Amino acid sequence: MHKPVLLDEVVTHAKEIEPRWILDGTFGRGGHTRALLEACPQARVIALDQDTEAVTHAQQTFGPEIGSGRLSARHFNFHAIARLTDRPSEGFDVILLDLGVSSPQLDQAERGFSFYHDGPLDMRMDPTADLTAAEIVNNWSEVELNDLFAAYGEVRRPQRVVRAIVNDRKEKPYTSTRELSGLIERVEGWRKKGHHPATQYFLALRMAVNEELSGLEACLPDLMRALRPGGRLIIITFHSLEDRIIKYAFKGATELGQPLYKKVITPSREEERDNPRARSAKLRIFQRGP
Ligand SMILES: C[S@@+](CC[C@H](N)C(=O)[O-])C[C@H]1O[C@@H](n2cnc3c(N)ncnc32)[C@H](O)[C@@H]1O
Repeated sequence: MHKPVLLDEVVTHAKEIEPRWILDGTFGRGGHTRALLEACPQARVIALDQDTEAVTHAQQTFGPEIGSGRLSARHFNFHAIARLTDRPSEGFDVILLDLGVSSPQLDQAERGFSFYHDGPLDMRMDPTADLTAAEIVNNWSEVELNDLFAAYGEVRRPQRVVRAIVNDRKEKPYTSTRELSGLIERVEGWRKKGHHPATQYFLALRMAVNEELSGLEACLPDLMRALRPGGRLIIITFHSLEDRIIKYAFKGATELGQPLYKKVITPSREEERDNPRARSAKLRIFQRGP
């Protein structure tokens, strides 16, 4: 199960402009896509996901929509939007990105995203990509690992953990999530109740494996250019660094358009209560100029 976040807010802002062409760049389990198809009967959706499993899921559960031509789903990384062929010549009315991982990705031990399940140290959203978390943990230098955990994980003092990784891997490379989370737990200890000490380290590794920040920053202008005049780029983030990138990119693209609101949209108290994943969610909308 994956509960789509900020669903009403996404649907309202899409529906308002009566879209004909929607791009869902992060299909996941299709929660947003399904709601958009229902709310906008005149719209067609092109759905992308870099995870082949998400695309298979689309083919299995959206048969009628795919059959009628209202939905097409493909294995594609939205970072490469500039190379997306067969897009509408007039541009998209709505582009949606709901960033990060999906609940099924987190829940499957074999994907290696979670320290709650023992699995391979993988963390690739795209199972056909080359770089894995094991590759980073076992081969990056001490300096590179310190920089990674400090910058992406916002860990204040990663040095002791990194020193232990670098020492241990000389004996035996890290291969499983449990090995790594166990080491972090031993070195860091539990400081905050309910917050596993490996949380920020795993987040940093996942972001590096999937090039989440660099890829996003580089493709934002292409996404804005892929909109038709008056079209909207709607982005949901779960990480303060991502939100900062989006905020400044939206503000700075004055030649293409402007942010629809100055302030960020956040989930209601009810949504945060019903869906803990929504707690860190932030939504921003960019509107292409006329
Ligand atoms: C938070 S989930 C999206 C959930 C979806 N909105 C739903 O309602 O089911 C994020 C999804 O986006 C995919 N994803 C993340 N980054 C991507 C990228 N750069 N290109 C394509 N898909 C990406 C992930 O594989 C994951 O399936």
